[in-house]
Amino acid sequence: MSYAKPSRRSWAEPWKIKMVEPIRMTTLAERAKFIFEAGYNTFLLRSEDVYIDLLTDSGTNAMSDRQWAGMMLGDEAYAGSKNFYNLWEAVTQHYGYKYLVPTHQGRAAEHILSQIMIHPGDVIPGNMYFTTTRLHQELAGGTFTDVIVDEAHDPANEAPFKGNVSIAKLKRVIDEVGARKIPYVCIAGPVNMAGGQPQSMENMRAVRDLCKRHDIPIVLDATRAIENAYFIQQREPGYKTKSVAEILKEYCSYTDTCTMSAKKDALVNIGGWLATNDQGLYEEARNLVVVYEGLHTYGGLAGRDMEAMARGIVESVADDHIRARVGQVEYLGNHLLDWGIPIVKPIGGHAVFLDARAFYPHIPQSQYPAQALTCDIYIDSGVRTMERGAVSAGRDAKTGEEHFPKLELVRVTLPRRVYTQAHMDVVAESVLEVYEHREQARGLRMTYEPKYLRFFQARFERAE
Ligand code: F0G
Repeated sequence: MSYAKPSRRSWAEPWKIKMVEPIRMTTLAERAKFIFEAGYNTFLLRSEDVYIDLLTDSGTNAMSDRQWAGMMLGDEAYAGSKNFYNLWEAVTQHYGYKYLVPTHQGRAAEHILSQIMIHPGDVIPGNMYFTTTRLHQELAGGTFTDVIVDEAHDPANEAPFKGNVSIAKLKRVIDEVGARKIPYVCIAGPVNMAGGQPQSMENMRAVRDLCKRHDIPIVLDATRAIENAYFIQQREPGYKTKSVAEILKEYCSYTDTCTMSAKKDALVNIGGWLATNDQGLYEEARNLVVVYEGLHTYGGLAGRDMEAMARGIVESVADDHIRARVGQVEYLGNHLLDWGIPIVKPIGGHAVFLDARAFYPHIPQSQYPAQALTCDIYIDSGVRTMERGAVSAGRDAKTGEEHFPKLELVRVTLPRRVYTQAHMDVVAESVLEVYEHREQARGLRMTYEPKYLRFFQARFERAE
């Protein structure tokens, strides 16, 4: 047997597998029962009933041998843990902020930041909302206002930086409400709810220039900023020869403060932080963290968790790691594109987002087509995904009306370093199977709606 010389050279993950976790396959009949019992909400499934778990990339990362070794070096002192100082050093070295307050996860940092910076009646512009971020802004008495570019709302638009801030929209907000009512501008890159779309460095600089003129600080949601840095390296003129680590540091340098869910980029299962260059904010945050999380040198974490994070940060900025991470998402997305399945373009950094409006055009948004699609994929193959559409968008804090966002998406989210290319093939084939039977799909009716972040615990039944 002879092989033709390959016309391209493939890349592979820069790691090999040392430990495995068995997963169990279920039958179609079992899965139909499980999802019914879970109220047609994939958040309410038991993980042991899931075959390939693509609900989220949050806290689902596989740690390296070096991180696990670091877990054994946990300094579990109540105060002044060595691991806290290691974490602080890693954050300062790679993200560039001067001061660090550890928290148990991202939303805890958002809570502390919002309580300190937002006053009732304030307005917080941002490049699209994120669920927990917006809720903490609202609970502090603020109102979120979206200043993302229009392209972000169009799943078919292939602009390279659909996470950009519209400078015109941001100017308008500043003119209308006045800089004094804007405690900060909240920037995320890539933008989770827009389909993992990045922000360019040029745009970040323009935001910084505008904010500087009005003396408005910038808070970065740095949760997946390393993926953003990778997209800048790949897509933005002038960055090809820079390392992701260098790009990350430049990107952060245009901001004053960051909140971080380390459960994503930083390759751990739990952890987060608030980091800032503002000494006054740091002192207040260091004081408040004691109330909600724990002493300022552990913030709700064990010493070993902070050590794993410190080591995870170093691994996460390596070019070969991030290329393989985003490359796996692209591999899955390109499969689906080749088969004509409607997904958000360009392919995102942490997930492939299925366009449920185009997938199920016969299901009205009031019957939650994206939620229905998550259920149909689970029933087909045991693959668990997440709704990112009307259910996630929730209700207007003032009027109580449901938000019906333009983007009605299913997020097929890839944990870092967990699944193989063969798993990706199984996922792609399952989505294709559901797509081929799309005419038979039915929508859902909500039967139970929690007050906050309803998507986590809402229950549904099949619509008539
Ligand atoms: N910011 C962004 C952009 C996020 O994606 C998340 C979490 C948070 C903040 C909150 O961080 O979960 O550590 O409290 N996103 C998860 C997800 C839940 O599945 O996208 P957390």
